[in-house]
Amino acid sequence: WPKDVGILAMEVYFPAQYVDQTDLEKYNNVEAGKYTVGLGQTHMGFCSVQEDINSLCLTVVQRLMERTQLPWDSVGRLEVGTETIIDKSKAVKTVLMELFQDSGNTDIEGIDTTNACYGGTASLFNAANWMESSYWDGRYALVVCGDIAVYPNGNARPTGGAGAVAMLIGPKAPLALEQGLRGTHMENAYDFYKPNLASEYPMVDGKLSIQCYLRALDRCYASYRQKIQKQWKQAGIDRPFTLDDLQYMIFHTPFCKMVQKSLARLMFNDFLSSSGDTQTLYQGLEAFRELKLEDTYTNKDLDKALLKASLDMFNKKTKASLYLSTHNGNMYTSSLYGCLASLLSHHSAQDLAGSRIGAFSYGSGLAASLFSFRVSQDASPGSPLDTLVSSISDLPKRLASRKRMSPEEFTEIMNQREQFYHKVNFSPPGDTNNLFPGTWYLERVDEMHRRKYARRP
Ligand code: CAA
Repeated sequence: WPKDVGILAMEVYFPAQYVDQTDLEKYNNVEAGKYTVGLGQTHMGFCSVQEDINSLCLTVVQRLMERTQLPWDSVGRLEVGTETIIDKSKAVKTVLMELFQDSGNTDIEGIDTTNACYGGTASLFNAANWMESSYWDGRYALVVCGDIAVYPNGNARPTGGAGAVAMLIGPKAPLALEQGLRGTHMENAYDFYKPNLASEYPMVDGKLSIQCYLRALDRCYASYRQKIQKQWKQAGIDRPFTLDDLQYMIFHTPFCKMVQKSLARLMFNDFLSSSGDTQTLYQGLEAFRELKLEDTYTNKDLDKALLKASLDMFNKKTKASLYLSTHNGNMYTSSLYGCLASLLSHHSAQDLAGSRIGAFSYGSGLAASLFSFRVSQDASPGSPLDTLVSSISDLPKRLASRKRMSPEEFTEIMNQREQFYHKVNFSPPGDTNNLFPGTWYLERVDEMHRRKYARRP
């Protein structure tokens, strides 16, 4: 099989407008700091009515292909992960085939995968599995994940966002998926789901969703550790795996505070499986040694002690990965991969070379996996790693170029999205100059629900 299958190139798309979370706190009449400190969110990106999941994915794929300058017929598989469903049958992938039309390349496997925020990871696994199978024909795979995360008025609304990430998958990748190392946990839960097909909004049990996320994290970490320790044992290494073995750790990010607590939670897992002589590593945690993981999801004293004990680790391993999430909000399937892009945009190729990046993917309902990337050793100028890192480095500048909208304007656009959802025989109103140059947008929905897209020059 090909060696080091993983991510060769990445492209990130987010909307050209945002609402400031401080403004939103005032507008929603909640205490100052609830969204900015309590949830850890500073800005939230949102889409105009001219954008839908197809347009987001069209834009991010086209941009990736233009930047890498690869011929369209060099792609043999295209997977889409999304939970933004506008058609119960027709895949986003089929709309993306429009981009390949001129090349004549129709021999492209893959369709859409859906389970809340996990679809992007399932797509990545599918692409890698294909490449390591007898069906691989030597061409690249593209993995696209994207979502429009919107909630009705209420306490979940500030945890929205929108965006898409496209990844070029191939062998000899600077970010190679570590073989045999996936810890997965799946169960049946009603924490966040979308039964109402006439609305963009999900049903959410916020508190339950946090517990489900943390439980899945515990289980995935246990399973990942078991697998890597088994691999180590076969190589003659007999010691427990801890967070020290991950130079960076990224998470699906519904809101940033959740991620800080999640890293802390992994430290708690390490602490509980450590022997008593490691007190200096886990200061302030000894009082919690007798607790069982599953009894601690709402323990505020433990939360506090863990956040304190893990602060340095958080700053070193995870904080940089939250840049896009802090400024743009939740991107559902693309959230984890936006974190990866943020991490790359805040480190040099030299910093990253040779490191292991842990990744936790969570999709409500629920499906979750913890897996890891091994970063290539070669960080020399022009190396695949250097090229990948350089291509993402303009992320903060691009975010800073977005337009700030007032909470009133944001609410008006949310209302319009409600009003126009699944409307037929109409062209979405709005000025396409408000979109970033090169953005695809929805031009028209005809009386048969057929959607037509155009691209802003
Ligand atoms: N200053 C500082 N902090 C403040 C504050 C203030 N003035 N006011 C409140 N806070 C803190 C609270 O103490 C709380 O922090 P702790 O949990 O650490 O105590 C935090 O701000 C949030 O406050 P609440 O718990 O009161 O918030 P809420 O109940 O109104 O809503 C939420 C929070 C449940 C996350 C809600 O926004 C929601 O339902 N969001 C959508 C669901 C979600 O994101 N779930 C996450 C896991 S599921 C998942 O990951 C899948 C996915 O993508 C959706």
